[in-house]
Amino acid sequence: MDTTTRRFNGPPGQEDMPYLLTPGPLTTSRTVKAAMLADWGSRDVEFRQLVADVRNGLLNLAGCDESYECVIMQGSGTFAIEAALGAFCPMGEVKTLVVANGAYGDRAAKILEKIGRPIVKIDKGDSAAPSAEEIAAALDADPAITHVWVIHCETTSGIVNPISDIARQVKARRKVFMVDAMSSFGALALDMNDGIDVMVSSSNKCIEGVPGFSYVLVKRDMLDMSRGRSHSVVLDLYEQWKGLEANGQFRFTPPTHALAAFHEAMKEHAAEGGVAARGKRYARNAQILIKGMRDMGFSTLLSDNEAGPIIQTFLTPRDPNFNFERFYEALRIRGFAIYPGKLTKRPSFRIGTIGKVDEKVMQGVLTAVTEVLAEMNVTDLSPLEAG
Ligand SMILES: Cc1ncc(COP(=O)(O)O)c(C=O)c1O
Repeated sequence: MDTTTRRFNGPPGQEDMPYLLTPGPLTTSRTVKAAMLADWGSRDVEFRQLVADVRNGLLNLAGCDESYECVIMQGSGTFAIEAALGAFCPMGEVKTLVVANGAYGDRAAKILEKIGRPIVKIDKGDSAAPSAEEIAAALDADPAITHVWVIHCETTSGIVNPISDIARQVKARRKVFMVDAMSSFGALALDMNDGIDVMVSSSNKCIEGVPGFSYVLVKRDMLDMSRGRSHSVVLDLYEQWKGLEANGQFRFTPPTHALAAFHEAMKEHAAEGGVAARGKRYARNAQILIKGMRDMGFSTLLSDNEAGPIIQTFLTPRDPNFNFERFYEALRIRGFAIYPGKLTKRPSFRIGTIGKVDEKVMQGVLTAVTEVLAEMNVTDLSPLEAG
């Protein structure tokens, strides 16, 4: 096809733009986008009520009891991660265990190193899940470890780590358990009362809002004890919490439109049937996509019991005619924006299965992939070997 001719059939409200099959920003509903067609005064009672609703709604969604607080932080997910690490991870002799199995675990370790908090790292590479037993063994081997940081769904590969099993081992040893549930919260079951002390996520993931803020759910006594510990003025979670509690306002300019969109997105999440229903839709998306891609000859990085419903990693075909940039652009002009790979050793690409997308969109992307492979004259889809 003529690559200068756009042939979009994108999401409602922006049919001339592609579906975003990525881990975020992702495709949102037309009504979520429409919720941004108003300018809210950040000091006004209506906006402060909206912020309070969002904070309470998130606590309820995570099954938090009265002992938890929700603090919203402006900026992308990494802003809340750095704020939480700076607030809760100890200085001095005691250490944080970072369990890394991909880029986001590595990034948490890098932040802690940068802000001078002692760490121990379990490094699983980028396609293997850590086991609860190896984390227990690391904790037993080093009593100076007091805090543990784990990713729920490692979006680098899409693998889902066994959070409940890990929580049991961590809590049996009375350590603080912190979870980056950025790409999973709202679609994969997570109960804070299972022993999660701190959880971080953001506005543009499985609740299907737009980018603009991130949030931390945390035990109130931990917030209280974090006073004065942050390395940063802007990312000081304690001060952010105190500001929100004092008058319902943000310390600095809030992302008003993103919060209004998220408020609507939370209503739509509940109307769909909450976490279970959302997770089911994404699981169906993943199932259709994986089957279709395998039927064509692609290989997935992960086995079916490792891969979650959030994002799928496909290994780059060895056919010399395959070129990711061309593949990407040819899919994009057909209405589907996919995602590059992020593995350190194996060439790959990813297709997200979250956002306001369903079976029809998955069938659409499969048809587009078939067309593009023919256009590129790619026939050998067996994977390139690890580099
Ligand atoms: C598991 C996980 N952690 C952290 C992040 C970083 O979030 P952001 O890019 O919004 O800063 C992401 C982003 O996709 C993620 O998937």
